[in-house]
Amino acid sequence: MSEIIKVANLSKTYQNRGKTVTAVTNITFSVKQGELFGLFGPNGAGKSTLVRMLTTLLAPTRGTAVVNGFDVVQQEMQVRASVGLVTADERSFYGRLTTRQNLQFYAAMQNIPRTHIPRRIAEVLELFDLEQKADAATQSLSTGQKQRLNMARALIHDPPVLFLDEPTKSMDVQTSDFVKALIRDELVNRQGKTVVFISHELYEMENFCDRVLILANGTVQAAGTPAELGALLPRRALFRLVVEGNPDQLAQHWQALDGVESVSEISRGMTQTTFDVALADERVWFAVLAVIERGNGRLESYHRADDESLRRIVAHFSGGEFTAKDAESAKKNN
Ligand SMILES: Nc1ncnc2c1ncn2[C@@H]1O[C@H](COP(=O)(O)OP(=O)(O)O)[C@@H](O)[C@H]1O
Ligand SMILES: [Mg+2]
Repeated sequence: MSEIIKVANLSKTYQNRGKTVTAVTNITFSVKQGELFGLFGPNGAGKSTLVRMLTTLLAPTRGTAVVNGFDVVQQEMQVRASVGLVTADERSFYGRLTTRQNLQFYAAMQNIPRTHIPRRIAEVLELFDLEQKADAATQSLSTGQKQRLNMARALIHDPPVLFLDEPTKSMDVQTSDFVKALIRDELVNRQGKTVVFISHELYEMENFCDRVLILANGTVQAAGTPAELGALLPRRALFRLVVEGNPDQLAQHWQALDGVESVSEISRGMTQTTFDVALADERVWFAVLAVIERGNGRLESYHRADDESLRRIVAHFSGGEFTAKDAESAKKNN
């Protein structure tokens, strides 16, 4: 597979009322053709800045970026023809014009040959299930329909690369599921498009993106498939075990062991107690077992309950910056 996006040492510094804000520094990565690529990072990480540079809306301060074989500075027009961009909160439609008229306007803006326009509009209307609304004023569309129209607009010129800057942020679950299924099945798998999907919500990327780049404080923290990122982590392990024996004594002795990160009692029955024991290293497990033996307890059953989710991966690479709480407060501040 060839690399359709190549970014090398890209940096952007904003000058704002005499103040200098460095948004991204020395970003280097590439995206392969036909990939569903996730760009993840908390608010303020620099995701939108990066995407605006890759879509020619913003000039880089330093570094280079090539999209679909074209340089974003030297070949601005060709890059624009190669990309579509969807952002979360766009008000880019004329409410009194119909869905079709709005799309005609954007088709003309993209220099699509006039004879091709009706067919192309019919295609995107079908793709986004908007045929019923083709001749309705866009102001009468529901929020979900407008969001789908927004995607239709970004794809009107059939670009090989699509950037989605937090597209699902304000979508209801139904619209979000519809759009994500369409991205994966139709745009990526069937049409072979390359999609860069941006989000500050991890659950959005799990089981969806082929590869993920983690951005924090304007720099790349890590990139790879979720599995590759997971392999870089220390071999931390979480065990859930059911034991017979004195629960308080067991917990106390486990806690005293080197390499035991936490012990939590999940439930206590007449004779058995269930614990979650988190270990810094899976080899500490043998010491955990030895404690049971020494206390004349009995291990009834156990299983590994590791949290190998992307959430943990990101927490590791960003110094624990991304917690559920962070995401919540980020949402509120938006
Ligand atoms: N026009 C601008 N002028 C000054 N600073 C900006 C501007 N746009 C973004 N920034 C700053 O650049 C950093 C990255 O912002 P942004 O790219 O929007 O991040 P993200 O999309 O990941 O939330 C933030 O610190 C933000 O405040
Ligand atoms: Mg942003």
